[in-house]
Amino acid sequence: MTPNKAPIEPLSDASIEKAAKILAAGGLVAFPTETVYGLGGDATNGEAVARIFAAKGRPSINPLIVHVADLAAARRTAAFNPLADKLAATLWPGPLSLVLPARSDAGISSLTSAGLSTVAVRVPASAAARQLLTACGLPIAAPSANRSGGISPTRAAHVQTSLPGPDDGGPALILDGGPCAVGLESTVVDLSTETPTLLRPGGVASEDIEAVIGRLAIAGNDDLAPKSPGMLSRHYAPATPLRLEARRAEPGEVFLGFGSVEATPGLNLSPKADLIEAAANLFQYLHQLDQRSATAIAVAAIPEHGLGRAINDRLRRGATR
Ligand code: TXA
Ligand code: MG
Repeated sequence: MTPNKAPIEPLSDASIEKAAKILAAGGLVAFPTETVYGLGGDATNGEAVARIFAAKGRPSINPLIVHVADLAAARRTAAFNPLADKLAATLWPGPLSLVLPARSDAGISSLTSAGLSTVAVRVPASAAARQLLTACGLPIAAPSANRSGGISPTRAAHVQTSLPGPDDGGPALILDGGPCAVGLESTVVDLSTETPTLLRPGGVASEDIEAVIGRLAIAGNDDLAPKSPGMLSRHYAPATPLRLEARRAEPGEVFLGFGSVEATPGLNLSPKADLIEAAANLFQYLHQLDQRSATAIAVAAIPEHGLGRAINDRLRRGATR
């Protein structure tokens, strides 16, 4: 262990207790959720939140999601409306973040939501994440635990490689919960305005949200700049260029396949063309193929439905130079 790397500890009651103490004292902890690993800090502590932005190299105009242990805690953080009640009842805990008017009595630092009057809130499905949230009893601001713009982490080792160590402003501890089950960030839905709007496709398919509350508007990229600044185009990018909708790897390239294609040299997201399996493998495989010194990662076409929408969203942003 070199001193400038954050220590990784396997999940246990003791390591979760330790992490909760670090958070309560204003420190940073990376922890697993069902979507990706988060870089957590006390959302009510402006200095802790400022440390999150600094560790990621993230522009502070980009608001953070507030994670809470249960619906009761979410109601203390944001002002719920009937559509939010319905979605929370059906899809929480889970990979869904709701943007709602912030409650001024919640004490959330204005830095957390980048000065907006709204707050994005989510109850994660991961038992480890909820145990940590319960142990610290705080709303935890947590973006994905990677340097801003890079590939999101779905393994503790990804976090350790991407973020600085505790001496350089990184997390004091990385809790290791193994690979993330969903593998894509939460779906972000804005319920703070008249029209429910999808701000970011993610771990809950938009079809499943529409089945509960009806038609979602989709925010166009341009309107997103002020609304959800996290949707800035270039994001989720490996160092190796991505070439999308490819049929095979050209000489010098590696292939990221999907379905019944030969992925040599390369990896197949899901030989049986299962979008849930593909989502769970996406970031790990991009991390792996990025190590191969290829001229490009050629990526097979992915169907544009269900989790395929979120996978394509990440691939398109990763391909933007
Ligand atoms: O799955 C996830 O959501 C992960 C894990 C750790 O929970 N977190 C995550 O956070 O992906 P982050 O910071 O990488 O993405 C947060 C997204 C950004 O697109 C941001 O712009 C949007 O949520 N967001 C947060 N608060 C918002 C608000 N008040 N209004 C609009 N968009 C907001
Ligand atoms: Mg992120």
